Amino acid sequence: MAAALLLGISGCEGPQSALTPDGAGARALASLWWIMAAGAVVIFLFVIGCAVYATRVAPRAHPDFAGTWFILGGGVALPVVVLSALLTYSFVLGRDLSRAPGPEALRIEVIGKQWWWEVRYRPPGGGEPVVSANELRLPVGEPVELVLSATDVIHSFWLPAIAGKRDMIPGRTTHLVLEVEEPGIWRGQCAEYCGGPHALMAFYAIAQAQGDFAAWLEREAQTAKEPDDPFLASGKALFHDSGCGACHTIRGTPADGELGPDLTHLGNRRSLAAGTLPNNVGTIAGWIADSQHIKPANRMPSFNTFTGRELRAIAAYLASLK
Ligand code: CUA
Repeated sequence: MAAALLLGISGCEGPQSALTPDGAGARALASLWWIMAAGAVVIFLFVIGCAVYATRVAPRAHPDFAGTWFILGGGVALPVVVLSALLTYSFVLGRDLSRAPGPEALRIEVIGKQWWWEVRYRPPGGGEPVVSANELRLPVGEPVELVLSATDVIHSFWLPAIAGKRDMIPGRTTHLVLEVEEPGIWRGQCAEYCGGPHALMAFYAIAQAQGDFAAWLEREAQTAKEPDDPFLASGKALFHDSGCGACHTIRGTPADGELGPDLTHLGNRRSLAAGTLPNNVGTIAGWIADSQHIKPANRMPSFNTFTGRELRAIAAYLASLK
């Protein structure tokens, strides 16, 4: 059993594990988990030891044994003391975790939608928010407050290696503080069943040094790059003529739909379809042609009427948006 358990625990690593924490919140939660697990193991072994002893001991081996005191001590006093201590510890830890950072802290809005994430950053100079999707960029070494909401059903934001999970509830805003110590890339996942392709509602979080984050945000705030060759220009024309702009925004073009993810800088993102596919020209073309096969029941229909050349042109244009 112990060997099987160790094998199981050795799988709890990697970019989406609460047991290999890389953020202050996740570290506190991991310590709570280890303390509770250790306490449970000690008490389990003690109880099993008592049970085994009771089956082996000769009848009436302890004629003076005060059974009442043993039951009161082991059955009432011990659980009250142990559980009260653990409860107090978890309350104190929970209070520390939900403490809001100062008003000058960076705030990023994350909105859960069926079945992707809209992410909105306030540009440093003020003005229109910078809208992105399915990827969260964070500066290293400062607390960031996420303002979480949802537009359709309840989702749950969970980035296990960095912080605890928080529900995203339509008509409400909830908050979660993230603090990342080192640059890196982690994976997060919607942790509340939200219908159909819930299991394919993931995202990546990318933490960068503060200067790199500021430079990224400045680039991200710009409008989309114009195509610089005739092939890409034909992809852009096809995108607009086929009505893609009814659901997607590309800032700086007539496309201003809000049903699907903003594609202004799609080429810079790691994944397509909320962590479902790696992002490159081939997967973009495949996604457009048959998104319903790749992520069944997602809100984007499969556009299987394009020719191969047309698909390549649209995909190349979208991948060029960096
Ligand atoms: Cu969104 Cu599950």
